[in-house]
Amino acid sequence: MECLIREATSDDCEHLMSLIQEIAAFHHLLDDVTINSQVLKADGFGKDPFYKCIVAELPVENGRKQACPIGYALYFFGYSVNHGRMVYLENLYVVSECRGKGIGKQLLSKVAEIALAAGCVEMKFVTMEWNHPAKEFYNCLGAHDATESEQLHCMELGHATLQRLVQSRKEL
Ligand SMILES: CC(C)(COP(=O)(O)OP(=O)(O)OC[C@H]1O[C@@H](n2cnc3c(N)ncnc32)[C@H](O)[C@@H]1OP(=O)(O)O)[C@@H](O)C(=O)NCCC(=O)NCCS
Repeated sequence: MECLIREATSDDCEHLMSLIQEIAAFHHLLDDVTINSQVLKADGFGKDPFYKCIVAELPVENGRKQACPIGYALYFFGYSVNHGRMVYLENLYVVSECRGKGIGKQLLSKVAEIALAAGCVEMKFVTMEWNHPAKEFYNCLGAHDATESEQLHCMELGHATLQRLVQSRKEL
């Protein structure tokens, strides 16, 4: 399917937020979304952006008055002590009616191009255990499952835990 891949702008944040809610609903994590479009705007398009984002848009003539993103890839750069520069793919999403037409692959390929140009040597991301279509998609593009090969566990410290951790050091 013909589509345009471009960098997101702060004007996309309102719409991006609705796509973020769609993917959260898809993952049964809608209640987990605590950000809003203002936060998205400030964090991605301020002085020191915390993330980068590209969007996929259908040509305007496809029955729409105005082009409107039908998919996005949100990513940020990181560092691996083993391999050096890397890119972390936080979210890849294509609206359900446009899936299976090569748009997800185009988005991922663009992130790969940007990452390689920035000197990255790998891309990391996680998928839900039950999300077999996404796993098939990534496998089909050559991904390997590090959870299986390296027995990785994905761990998190929540906001309250971070605060307790800081407090515990201050109390020493
Ligand atoms: C996963 C997702 C981004 C893939 O995007 P897409 O536009 O549907 O995928 P594409 O059409 O670009 O597929 C690219 C390739 O993967 C293959 N593929 C895609 N989905 C597949 C599936 N369910 N099973 C097998 N192969 C699949 C395609 O056949 C295609 O192969 P080809 O290049 O040899 O033709 C999209 O389906 C989506 O947004 N899903 C819901 C959200 C999600 O799961 N996101 C990822 C969470 S980590």
